[in-house]
Amino acid sequence: MRDFIQSLPKVELHVHLEGTLEPELMFQLAERNGVKLPFPDVESVRAAYEFEDLQSFLNLYYNGACVLLEEQDFYDLTRAYLDRVAAENVVHTEMFFDPQTHTERGVPFDTVIGGILRACRDAEAAHGMSTGLILCFLRDLSEASAFDTLEAAMPWREHIVAIGLDSAETGHPPEKFARVFEEVHNGGFRVVAHAGEEGPPEYIRQALDILRVERVDHGVQCTGDPELVKRLAASGICLTVCPLANVKLRVFDTMDDHNLPQLLQAGLNITVNSDDPAYFGGYMNANMTAVAEAFDLDRETLRGFTRNAIDAAFIGEDRRRALH
Ligand code: ADE
Ligand code: ZN
Repeated sequence: MRDFIQSLPKVELHVHLEGTLEPELMFQLAERNGVKLPFPDVESVRAAYEFEDLQSFLNLYYNGACVLLEEQDFYDLTRAYLDRVAAENVVHTEMFFDPQTHTERGVPFDTVIGGILRACRDAEAAHGMSTGLILCFLRDLSEASAFDTLEAAMPWREHIVAIGLDSAETGHPPEKFARVFEEVHNGGFRVVAHAGEEGPPEYIRQALDILRVERVDHGVQCTGDPELVKRLAASGICLTVCPLANVKLRVFDTMDDHNLPQLLQAGLNITVNSDDPAYFGGYMNANMTAVAEAFDLDRETLRGFTRNAIDAAFIGEDRRRALH
């Protein structure tokens, strides 16, 4: 099964570039930029990756991102991720980035996106893969900060395939950003949002009804509301599920307890993704392998995840046909 998963051409729709920062690169960039890390070495960073919940992870994740300062840093981060997943036979990936994580520390928006896009172009040429970039607002920051970020993004509009919403979910419902996402739609962007990772089914409803998302990132909490599950199934909207992330962040105690079988049984449009692979113990192959082993999934089901991802990807019809 591992060989089959490796050879399967895969599409990733839910990965945070800042979450691909491996401890080795974190230390390299810290040294290059004279940033002091609160860990003596790579091993102790890895040992610290035991999380209670989403917030306990985010604290480490935002701290790790402090080593990213120069355009070249964002290039190196992105290029390392793309080279790595190209070797796993990922043929298309849509990556989240969180500009506010960097602009709040004084790093200009253009430095962040400039480095990321240069790496995307180089990796596309080197590996024949395709990429897309999704800008996420941090939902624990203010509406005003999201509006500022949107304004900074406008000159880069043609390089951003969608706008999303991430970070600490509980207490920050989608409706908090209703007005910002009106502007996002007016600007012609496509929309996704993290909803129902830890937060209640109501947040998924808000993402659908208020933000008018085209995909729900995570969405696993939908099973708490059978009517919502029916609605999601009927609409065919894609859920970007991240199995290893859900276990690492204690949404489910073990992979055996994950509700993926229930989601599949309900006829939902499911894809499998890595979220923050440097922190959660694996990239696309590891996520696919984990669910295949836990639930004894057959090849057709795994191929189905990829087919769903191709159909839900924000790509032109020519590329979609080529991927199918
Ligand atoms: N940012 C990075 N990873 C995240 C996750 N799993 N949920 C919400 N925000 C995130
Ligand atoms: Zn995520």
